[in-house]
Amino acid sequence: MSFLAKSLRKSAKVGSFKLRLGSTRMLSGTSNSNNHADETKKNQLTTDKPSTTHFGYKEILLNQKERLVGDVFSSVASNYDLMNDVMSLGIHRLWKDHFIKKLDPGMRPGGEPLEFIDAAGGTGDIAFGLLRHAKQHHFDTKSRMTVVDINNDMLNEGRKRYLDTEFVTESPNRIQFLQQNGEVLDKIPDNSKDFYTVSFGIRNFTNIQSGLNAAYRVLKPGGIFACLEFSKVDNEYLNFIYNKYSFSLLPLMGELVANDRASYQYLVESIRKFPSQDEFSGMIRKAGFYVPGKGYENLTFGVAAIHIGIKI
Ligand SMILES: C[S@@+](CC[C@H](N)C(=O)[O-])C[C@H]1O[C@@H](n2cnc3c(N)ncnc32)[C@H](O)[C@@H]1O
Repeated sequence: MSFLAKSLRKSAKVGSFKLRLGSTRMLSGTSNSNNHADETKKNQLTTDKPSTTHFGYKEILLNQKERLVGDVFSSVASNYDLMNDVMSLGIHRLWKDHFIKKLDPGMRPGGEPLEFIDAAGGTGDIAFGLLRHAKQHHFDTKSRMTVVDINNDMLNEGRKRYLDTEFVTESPNRIQFLQQNGEVLDKIPDNSKDFYTVSFGIRNFTNIQSGLNAAYRVLKPGGIFACLEFSKVDNEYLNFIYNKYSFSLLPLMGELVANDRASYQYLVESIRKFPSQDEFSGMIRKAGFYVPGKGYENLTFGVAAIHIGIKI
């Protein structure tokens, strides 16, 4: 049984709620999603937002961030795998595999097809991986995937890669690509998704809490939120080496392999600006999710971490 399945089984009773594995549907209880959705929309409209934010280590005007992040990903889109390999020394592939196995998604026998959303899904690594896993492990060829990303250049890479997958011939229209800001997801109805995933994307959002609130809104009661993201290294010595590598070598490698020092510099700084594992778990709870156990699993001493939340 996967780690997630065990966590869920342990937490299968959440107050008066019961979760059914696989279908992730609620069997009893009522959801607070409508109130929450209203609150989210209200927050988005009325919160006193600071007029500045960070872009890596730079202080910028709030309304500049989306464009600057857009420029970074437009610039790396065609070399996206190379960027990931440089950033993680190739380990991102192992982390992504582990993430997918841990979620162990797929329609269970006799169940209904699942609705997945992969936010900031870019080139589709996680989206294709989830559907492949569902097929290989649960004979699921029906569940559907929506990949959303704010950046059309990244989505276009995903669309191109999709054409090379087995899904195109097997079952067309199982995957749709939508240009959407993950902080709002205005084209995604409330309570419509069983799984929300976001991998190496949420740290680039201007307002991470709005992204989490939007995730909560679009998930069905019992739906699973899962995030794979760079995080904080939990070992002092390793952290020292990691910092040296990140700040000295990475921007240089960005310049040498992709002629793009600035984007790599931003990516390193954005990792350092991202909240710690415990802070991020707190934000997931704040969005309304039930967080099982401590809420995260560190990968490679915390270089990356997986966070889980369940919509109650
Ligand atoms: C490092 S890539 C990750 C792509 C993919 N999820 C993966 O794991 O390979 C980060 C992605 O986040 C997207 N992104 C940044 N801000 C976003 C936002 N506010 N809403 C949706 N996507 C966003 C970028 O366009 C980019 O495609």
